[in-house]
Amino acid sequence: MTPVKLIIDCDPGVDDAVALLLAFASREALDILGVTTVAGNAGLERTARNARLIRQIANRPEIPVYSGASRPLLRDPVEAGDFHGPSGIGPIPVVEPDVPLAGDDAPQFIVDTIRREPPNTVTLAVTGPATNVALALRLAPDIGPRLRQIVVMGGARSAGGNITASAEYNVYADPHAFQEMLNAGCPIAIFGLDVTYQVLTLPERIDALEAIDTPGAQAAAAIMRFSNAVEADHTRRDGAPLHDPCTIAWLLKPDLFTLRPAFVQVETHNGVAFGHTAVEFRVTPDQANALWAVGADGAGVFALINQKLAL
Ligand code: RIB
Ligand code: CA
Repeated sequence: MTPVKLIIDCDPGVDDAVALLLAFASREALDILGVTTVAGNAGLERTARNARLIRQIANRPEIPVYSGASRPLLRDPVEAGDFHGPSGIGPIPVVEPDVPLAGDDAPQFIVDTIRREPPNTVTLAVTGPATNVALALRLAPDIGPRLRQIVVMGGARSAGGNITASAEYNVYADPHAFQEMLNAGCPIAIFGLDVTYQVLTLPERIDALEAIDTPGAQAAAAIMRFSNAVEADHTRRDGAPLHDPCTIAWLLKPDLFTLRPAFVQVETHNGVAFGHTAVEFRVTPDQANALWAVGADGAGVFALINQKLAL
C-alpha cells in the first residue's frame, strides 16, 4: 500500500495528542508531510508547543511543525481548558521540546505543500477549529480541488452538542471556517460526536494499552486516564469519547467505520444554534457535500491503537 501523503492540522489538546501518536507510529501507511497547529483547546503557543512535545515522545523529529492562526476568522476565541488541563496536554510533563517550529505561517505551508505534490495525492486531517484550512483556501482556492480529501473531526447530528446544546466544539470555535472548508471542492469525511461517542476510553481498554512498554503507548494511556477522570467529573460516564483519533483510525482501517453521504451546513448566525451542523441524509449522491460517520467499532479502534503504539 502506498503511504498516504498527510498534513495534520490540530489543536493539541489531549485527544489530538493521541491522534498524533497514532499517526506518528504508522510510518508504513502515512507519509506525514507536516503538522500545523491552530488556537483552539488552548492558545496557539501551547498547541504549537504540545504538538512538538508529542512529536518528541514519538521520536519523529523529521516531521515539520508549523504554528498558524491564533484566533478564529470572525468570532471571539473560545477554549476548552476543562478537558485539556492548564498545559493543554493533560498529564504530559511539559518541557521545551528539542526541535523548534519550522515556521509560523501554517496556511502558507498548507498551500505550498499541496501545490508541490501531484494533484489528488494529499490528504488533510483536521482535528481542531478549521481556521488554518479556511485561511489556506482563501489564499489559494485552487488547493481545494487539488486535495485528495479532507478528513475532519467535528460537528454533531443525533448526539447533540458538547459545548452548547446543539454545537460540537471544533465547529463552534470557528463555524465560519468550518462552513468555508465544506466548500473546498474535494471529498470530505466528517467524524462528529455521533460516532466518537461510540469510541470510549473504557478502563479495561486503557489497562491493555498501559501494558505496552513504549513511550507512545504510555503517553496515550496516561492521557486517557486523565480524560476519564475529567469525563467522570462532567458526565459520570465510564470512559471518555476518543474524538480526534477517529480521523487517523479511518485512514488506517476504513472498515472500522460506517459513513453515509449527506448535505452538511453550519449555522453561522448568532443565536441558540450558533455552530450547529445540520446534516441531511435525504439527498442524492450528487447533492451530498460530505460523508458523515454514523458507526464505529470502538473495540476495533483500540485494537488498532494498541497494534500501532506497540511498534
Ligand atoms: O469536540 C471534540 C473536539 O474538540 C476535539 O477535537 C477536541 O480536541 C476538541 O478540540
Ligand atoms: Ca482537537
